[in-house]
Amino acid sequence: MAKHGKGRGPLKEEEKRAFNKTNLRQLLGIFKFMMPYRKLFFLGLISLALSSFTILSFPRLSGELLDVASGQPKYFKTINEVALVLIAVLFVQGIFSFIRVYTFSIVSEKGMADIRKSVYQKIIWLPMSFFDSRRVGELMSRITADVGTLQDTFSFTLAELLRQFLTLIFGIGIIFYLAPTLTGFMLLTFPVLVIAALIFGKYIRKLSRKAQDKLAEANVIVEESLQSISVVKAFTNELFETNRYSNALKEMVNVAVQSSRYRGLFVSFIIFALFGGIVAVGWYGARLVLANEITVGELFSFVLYTSFIGFSIAGLGDIYTQLQRSIGASERVLEILQEKSEASAGNAPPLKLHGNIEFDSVTFSYPSRNDFIVLNDLNFSIHAGEKVALVGQSGAGKSTIISLLMRLYPLEHGKIKVDGQDINKHNLTSYRQNLGIVPQEVILFGGTIEENIAYGKPGATFEEIRDSARKANALQFIESFPEGFKTVVGERGVKLSGGQRQRIAIARAILKDPAILILDEATSSLDAESEFLVQQALEKLMHGRTSIIIAHRLSTIKKADRIFVIKEGGLAEMGSHEELTQVNDGIYKNLLHLQLHG
Ligand SMILES: Nc1ncnc2c1ncn2[C@@H]1O[C@H](COP(=O)(O)OP(=O)(O)OP(=O)(O)O)[C@@H](O)[C@H]1O
Ligand SMILES: [Mg+2]
Repeated sequence: MAKHGKGRGPLKEEEKRAFNKTNLRQLLGIFKFMMPYRKLFFLGLISLALSSFTILSFPRLSGELLDVASGQPKYFKTINEVALVLIAVLFVQGIFSFIRVYTFSIVSEKGMADIRKSVYQKIIWLPMSFFDSRRVGELMSRITADVGTLQDTFSFTLAELLRQFLTLIFGIGIIFYLAPTLTGFMLLTFPVLVIAALIFGKYIRKLSRKAQDKLAEANVIVEESLQSISVVKAFTNELFETNRYSNALKEMVNVAVQSSRYRGLFVSFIIFALFGGIVAVGWYGARLVLANEITVGELFSFVLYTSFIGFSIAGLGDIYTQLQRSIGASERVLEILQEKSEASAGNAPPLKLHGNIEFDSVTFSYPSRNDFIVLNDLNFSIHAGEKVALVGQSGAGKSTIISLLMRLYPLEHGKIKVDGQDINKHNLTSYRQNLGIVPQEVILFGGTIEENIAYGKPGATFEEIRDSARKANALQFIESFPEGFKTVVGERGVKLSGGQRQRIAIARAILKDPAILILDEATSSLDAESEFLVQQALEKLMHGRTSIIIAHRLSTIKKADRIFVIKEGGLAEMGSHEELTQVNDGIYKNLLHLQLHG
């Protein structure tokens, strides 16, 4: 029933939802997104109702055809008259159906695009701590799968629910009117069968759920091993992985075979019961015809109506499942929409900072790891234009200092001030526009080199872009590509080396021209010669602006005005290269010694 190929099959345990007030309110919360299109939606609902009513005249008219033929007409005189009306009915029904499908599609497509946009806009403005605790895949599935489920609901499920419901109520009404005793007989037999089938069916679904889970487990093996195929090959574990996969498949087949035994039973039961019911009603109906209580045409109409009703009942089960799924989906979507953004889109007042930085008793632990204190009562100040290097062991907290300076995480203890003002007082966007960073791990977007550099300053001219590439010492390798700045990089394009990526990132930062420049291991992937060249570029870039340089290689930081040695989240030593090399048994001195003499 779901046209996207998902939302099929039995519900997982965690997908089950009760139809209570809160849950239905969730679905209504999503309905808010349909409000701009309510007129169209309403038009769709009306055509739906009209097409359902029109189609309900079809069985009676068909029966009338037989009655006219057998000389017992009720409403019409000739077969042709009936046929003409039938054609008219079909025609009208066609028009209504078209309007229904068309309007519901427009409403749901537009509504879902709005939801996707809102969710994406929400997510992208959420604070880093949110991303630390979620996987990208999970967030993706909110925007893709969950919204897709909702789309099915609004384009299809709700409409079907209404249609089945109308068919059920009016269908039963009509057959009661047509043949009360026969209807009574039918209602005594069928519900019993339906209930039996439902119970049996539920058990079967449980079993096939198990088979699906096993298949999912097997799929994980394929996914994992293919994603890290280089590791598999490096350790020559092809055979091991093949065995792992075939064992998982074997388990899946076992479960599936077991469940198919019950499925076979189920199918034969259904066929037996269904046709048994038909035989019983047929037999009773034929007796009524013999007794002249109803006409052949009425019996025929009765059978058609009954099958309409039967299909509606069968359809309601699927709709129920789908609605439960939608409630789950709307819960997950609304959950994101209710998260608190770190800032919102809107105008950022211009702000030009000088770059005086002050850390005042900063104590910090990551929200995702509350018990582990990363920075412990950290105090320092950097004045505008100063070049400061942060050194310290891996994991000491250097990148964390940068993240806090960038306001990626909220600070609960202590204060960070820039130009004498608490950074939280500044408009977030304006504030961040004053910071430029060449990060530890450079990530390029799918797109051209030009676009990737322009990311530092949207709307930059090509001259500016080329100039920053030149300053970052990246021009040479960029122009060595046949397509130059138009070379596509990222997942679908050329793969750049680590050093090349770093130089693109440096060009980005140069283009941004920030008051505060942050280099987190910016030259770590470069060979000695490129490093020398990039170093020159960086020195020009650092001139006249506050710069924070994180580096393991001491050759890169010697020229800093001051060096901060970070240890266990605190400041252990501070001073110029010359000063720190004088400290007896100092950490910096030891580091230097280790690097120089191994
Ligand atoms: N997002 C995060 N969530 C939880 N803990 C984190 C997070 N990022 C870093 N940490 C932890 O905080 C500590 C400091 O990490 P940080 O990245 O600041 O170290 P670093 O000094 O930059 O190290 P390196 O030189 O290896 O880059 C580490 O123990 C790390 O495990
Ligand atoms: Mg780091």
